[in-house]
Amino acid sequence: MDQIQLQKLDTTVLKWLDQVHHLVEQRVRQRMQVDTKSSHRDLVTNVDREVEQYYVQHIRNFDPEAQILGEEGLGDAVKSMKGRIWFVDPIDGTMNFVKQQSEFATMVAVYEDGEPVMAWIMDVQQHDIIHGGPEYGVFHNGEKLELSADIGLDEGLVILSGARLLYEEPGFPQLAKAAMGYRVYGSAGISYLHVLTGKAVAYLSRMRPWDFAAGITLAKSLGLRVGTIDEQPMNMLVSGSVLVATDKAYADIMALLQKKG
Ligand code: IPD
Ligand code: CA
Ligand code: CA
Repeated sequence: MDQIQLQKLDTTVLKWLDQVHHLVEQRVRQRMQVDTKSSHRDLVTNVDREVEQYYVQHIRNFDPEAQILGEEGLGDAVKSMKGRIWFVDPIDGTMNFVKQQSEFATMVAVYEDGEPVMAWIMDVQQHDIIHGGPEYGVFHNGEKLELSADIGLDEGLVILSGARLLYEEPGFPQLAKAAMGYRVYGSAGISYLHVLTGKAVAYLSRMRPWDFAAGITLAKSLGLRVGTIDEQPMNMLVSGSVLVATDKAYADIMALLQKKG
C-alpha cells in the first residue's frame, strides 16, 4: 500500500476506535451480560460481541475482499495468510473490563500476504491509542513515537502472564526474579502499550493470534525485538509464546530461558 492508502486506512480505523470508545462508555453504564467460555476465568460479555460485530460490519464495507479473524467468531474461518487479513480483539482484558471497567484494550491489525501492514491498540477507558505500521511509522495519539532507551532486564520491569507465573511455567518465575520488577496487567493490549512507551522492557505471554497480531506489528515497526521463546517461526494463525522486548532485555531473557532446564 502507498502512503495515501495507509493514511486513509489509519484515519478510517481511528474513527472506528472513537465510536468503540463511545459505545463502550455507554454500555458500562448499563447492565452487562457476562458469560464464561473455556473456564470460569475466561469471560465474554455482550459488549465483546457488539464491538466485534461493529468492526466486522465496518471492515466488510471498507475492505470487502479481506478476511477477518475475530476472537468472538463473527468473522471468517481463516485458514491461510494469503490476501488481506484483519485481526480483531474487540475487548482485550475482559476480566478487567467486567471487574474494574479500566485497564482493558481493543486491538485491530491488518496483514497482507503474511506481512504486517498496520495496527491499532487503544486503552479504551483512557482513549489512549498507539497506531502505525512498518511503512508508516508508529504514533501515540497522532504524535510520532520514538524507540525508548535500550534497557536490560535487571534495570526494567518485565510484564508476564499471571497464569504462566501462577502455574510456574518453566522460565517465568526465573524471569520475574531476574528483572528489576515484574507486573501482571491482565490485558495483552495494555501490556503492549507499556512496552511500546518504554515503561516496561519486555512482555511475555502465551497468546492467541488476535492477542498478539497488533502488538507485534507495532513493536517491530518501532524497532523492538519480537520472537517466540521456543525460537520457532511465528505462525499468525496459531497460539504462541510471544516475546516483545528491548534488544538488551531480549538477549537477557533468551539467555535466562536457555539456562532454565
Ligand atoms: C486475555 C488477556 C490476558 C492474556 C490472555 C488473553 P481476553 O485476552 O489479554 O492478559 O493473558 O492470554 O486471552 O480473553 O481478555 O481478550
Ligand atoms: Ca477479547
Ligand atoms: Ca485478548
